[in-house]
Amino acid sequence: MASPRLSFRNITALAPMVRVGTLPMRLLALDYGADVVYCEELIDLKMVQCQRVVNTVLQTVDFVAPDDRVMFRTCEREKDRVVFQMGTADPDRALAVARLVEKDVAAVDVNMGCPKEYSTKGGMGAALLSDPDKIEAILKKLVAGVSIPVTCKIRILPSLQETVDLVQRIERTGVAAVAVHGRFKEERPRHPVHCDYIQAVAQAVSVPVIANGGSLDLVKTNADVAEFKRASGASSVMLARAAMWNASVFSSQGPLPLEKVMEDYLKYAIRYDNNAFNTKYCLCQMLRDKVESPLGKQVQAAQTNTEISKAYGLQTFYQHTQEELQARRDTSQTSSQPERPVMDGDVTTMAIRFERREYPPQITPKMFLLEWSRKEKLEQPHYDTVERSQDRSFQSTVTVAEKKYRSSLWEKSKKFAEQASAIVCLRTLGIPEGRIGEEDSGLVSKRKREGKINGSAEEKRKKLHVASIPETVSSGVAVETNGDHHRAEQP
Ligand code: FNR
Repeated sequence: MASPRLSFRNITALAPMVRVGTLPMRLLALDYGADVVYCEELIDLKMVQCQRVVNTVLQTVDFVAPDDRVMFRTCEREKDRVVFQMGTADPDRALAVARLVEKDVAAVDVNMGCPKEYSTKGGMGAALLSDPDKIEAILKKLVAGVSIPVTCKIRILPSLQETVDLVQRIERTGVAAVAVHGRFKEERPRHPVHCDYIQAVAQAVSVPVIANGGSLDLVKTNADVAEFKRASGASSVMLARAAMWNASVFSSQGPLPLEKVMEDYLKYAIRYDNNAFNTKYCLCQMLRDKVESPLGKQVQAAQTNTEISKAYGLQTFYQHTQEELQARRDTSQTSSQPERPVMDGDVTTMAIRFERREYPPQITPKMFLLEWSRKEKLEQPHYDTVERSQDRSFQSTVTVAEKKYRSSLWEKSKKFAEQASAIVCLRTLGIPEGRIGEEDSGLVSKRKREGKINGSAEEKRKKLHVASIPETVSSGVAVETNGDHHRAEQP
């Protein structure tokens, strides 16, 4: 069943924060009462190269870069609450990224507020604020291209009117909310927030406005959230530093003692195998002026999650968690072959590539799947192939008997992607696929298996139209014949 669309009205959100907004912090914020959690900003250029990997040991979905770095890790618990924030200056790339994560997150957001040079020099972040046409192009493309809500986060412009005009233009793109950080792009976090700007925007548009920027002077505890709402006139509030310092700011029972918050955070960091340096960074942010305390010094000296756990007296928790994860690792390795099917929504997936050399020259898994479908009197397999624009690789999903199958690996050609999806289907259903050395199943004729197709052009033409089995032509390009003369190229 599809998840309900995330609403941005009357919510309190964890703001996007580079290095802070990783999975452990987001789960912590949710536990304490945040309605919505934004991930740290992730740059489109890096994200588009990522592979979506279902991590059966951690029970997460990981987006993994070609160098094996996990760029974004998420899990079922936050699926309906997490907003994926990207840094982008390119509508097509933004859409490619949004589509990549669409099934695993509740919404996507574009960062239009980052004043740092690494962001602005690429035309991203706050640079977008002076290019409203680009803003419009990106947001329109996203709104039209994905089925989840799209939001953006801006800083305020030099005048009230300019800010209102921009947000009205943004509203017309169809976004689900606009987060307004009430500071000019030149201002630093220590400067007071301009609630009057947020208020003017909130009055001028009907799309939900999320007020941001109140951590320093306004929001210290949960009770202050209402005051920030009142002062900014917005129904929703987004907290960055107040949450980074003590995430229990989201709890109406809070603030909880920092020791408890750090311990809760660390347990998530251990459970989800968070990068140790990232864990350290977040704990040091929480420790703030206590970073030079004995505990702070131990944290700073720690190099691994084990050492950090020791500093907090969590060795037993660490040990138990490692044992549990190891047990899961062992089960997933021994329970079946490496190509164990993994459900990805309603699609059965396996990490499989089509290796041409594993099949006789005239034979492909697609042929076997087609023949099997005919034998079973099923509709012919239907292939849906998508292309990833950034590296021009392909992924295909085949539908057979109303069930979908896909390889989680991307292929360099459409043909190979289709073959890979056919293999996933055949292996899942335990059907022969024509590999060299496989016992002859009789699914595809012996003559064909032996590659004895040398007839005249006329003979071939006849076969294309009358034969009930897939045929090949001597160029090596196969044409699968079927009732409606559908042509499908084979590698
Ligand atoms: C940020 N901020 C930020 N904003 C954003 O849109 N994407 C991001 O990745 C980050 N990264 C980030 C990291 C860290 C460590 C901090 C402190 C801040 C800005 C943040 O979301 C927010 O707009 C400002 O901090 C103002 O809100 P507060 O802190 O007053 O609640």
